[in-house]
Amino acid sequence: MNILKSSFCTVCTLLATIFSTHAQWVTIVNGQMWTDTDGNEVQAHGAGFLNLNDTWYMIGEDRTDRWHPDVNMYSSKDLKTWKFEGKIIKNGVSHPDLGSERMIERPKLLHCKKTGKFVIWCHWESRNYGASEAAVFVSDSITGPYKYHWSGRPLGIKSRDCNVFVDDDDTAYFISTIEENQHLGLFKLSDDYLSAVECTELFKWQRREAPAIVKIKNTYHMLSSACTGWEPSPCKLSQSDSLSEGWSELRQIGNHNAFDSQPASILKIGGTSDTTYLYVGDRWMDPGLPESKTIILPIDFSDGNCQFEYIESFNLNIKEGTWQPTDASR
Ligand code: DGJ
Repeated sequence: MNILKSSFCTVCTLLATIFSTHAQWVTIVNGQMWTDTDGNEVQAHGAGFLNLNDTWYMIGEDRTDRWHPDVNMYSSKDLKTWKFEGKIIKNGVSHPDLGSERMIERPKLLHCKKTGKFVIWCHWESRNYGASEAAVFVSDSITGPYKYHWSGRPLGIKSRDCNVFVDDDDTAYFISTIEENQHLGLFKLSDDYLSAVECTELFKWQRREAPAIVKIKNTYHMLSSACTGWEPSPCKLSQSDSLSEGWSELRQIGNHNAFDSQPASILKIGGTSDTTYLYVGDRWMDPGLPESKTIILPIDFSDGNCQFEYIESFNLNIKEGTWQPTDASR
């Protein structure tokens, strides 16, 4: 009886090990709409991400009602299985002008360790893009409710496409396309992440948008695209050892239109055996705004370089921080 019992336990342990090892690998497939755990289409364009306690939170534009986007939140443990956490910013509810006078683009999520609050910075725009404003929403809990805090031109500067970046010392930045799309503005945020306190102009007259920054060791890497409306354009890389100066000349990476997308975010997946970096981009108008696809591609930053290729699908192991091409993509 005891032998039977112990053999049974061994088999269970073996199965559990096999299952958990396999459960860590998921296959990310590009070029199609994602589906959430309820079977609904994922609507989170221009996405922003936050990794908290082994869970990735993704917020983005819900373009179901094209020109009146709400903001959706999803959560995932593997970047493949997305659970809908709710509509965290709603037209006509989160602010009376939202859905009529104003729309939100590129919402990005921050966690301010000093205050414990969750803060969203986003583009807060009118239909003809004349407002050129940003907005801030705040919540005590990551999944909301998010309350409107402020909107306007940060430090009086016209601001459009945007992103956020948090440095190793927890200083946060809002980076956006400023002054009629001419330059990029690097806005240092206050300690509570709720307002901009300083602006440094970068890439003057170079008309960049869709910026995304990642720091690797002591180097900042920024990807951005040209200001071409909803059309994709070459993705360009610039690197610097300082956020506010010394950015290298823009250099094209990927293909001629960075695989038909504009950058939304760069994710750092630090695991038990390696670190994988992922490019997240929007294939806008594919074919319509609600059907814009989110694509994820591994980026290689080894030896201070930066390269990425289009890959139809790949296997990702978030726990290990590793990825490999699938048989189909080899
Ligand atoms: C490109 C931007 O990246 C989008 O977020 C959006 O602002 C469109 N331009 C509008 O034309």
